[in-house]
Amino acid sequence: MRIKKVETSNIADLIRIGENANLSPWSAESYLDELKHPASLMYRLADDENETVGMVVGRIIEGGAVEATVEAEIYNIAVIESAQDRGFGQMLLDHFIELVKKNKGVAIWLEVRESNERAIAFYKKNGFQKIQTRNHFYENPREHALLMRLLLDVEKS
Ligand SMILES: CC(C)(COP(=O)(O)OP(=O)(O)OC[C@H]1O[C@@H](n2cnc3c(N)ncnc32)[C@H](O)[C@@H]1OP(=O)(O)O)[C@@H](O)C(=O)NCCC(=O)NCCS
Repeated sequence: MRIKKVETSNIADLIRIGENANLSPWSAESYLDELKHPASLMYRLADDENETVGMVVGRIIEGGAVEATVEAEIYNIAVIESAQDRGFGQMLLDHFIELVKKNKGVAIWLEVRESNERAIAFYKKNGFQKIQTRNHFYENPREHALLMRLLLDVEKS
């Protein structure tokens, strides 16, 4: 397995993985727009035949009201069902965290369906904490989201 940057030709794979993993659907256009964004972080896990079996899609977000801060958000992370529970989700998350740290990011945010116990356990194991509930955040089915955050230790340079 190798982690590779997503290219335009991989968008159909991302849609397939999102469907297989039951993620909220993203159109090809949404993925393409994200890919064009200069701060996007989009990586795929490729097997020995270069088939995509997982993905992480997120973005570096710069802001801060008083002091400039760099944070990041994960929009989608998934591994195809047949390859789950073999450490590949961990590989994708570790890669994303490393990139955020390289960008001097101090936190990673994400939303997750409150019934998605498996993903919540995965995030908690990785140090994410629940910050708040976002009521009726999701449709089909309608459901609350947990907003979770991972604080990163950034070495001072
Ligand atoms: C969430 C997801 C990305 C995790 O990927 P994965 O490849 O199955 O997870 P890994 O095998 O890398 O597991 C990493 C760690 O997470 C923890 N974990 C994973 N599933 C777990 C579960 N059901 N319960 C408790 N802990 C779990 C394990 O402790 C594991 O570490 P270990 O090696 O100490 O056992 C994957 O299950 C997935 O694609 N789910 C469907 C899509 C989804 O819900 N995405 C999140 C939307 S917000």
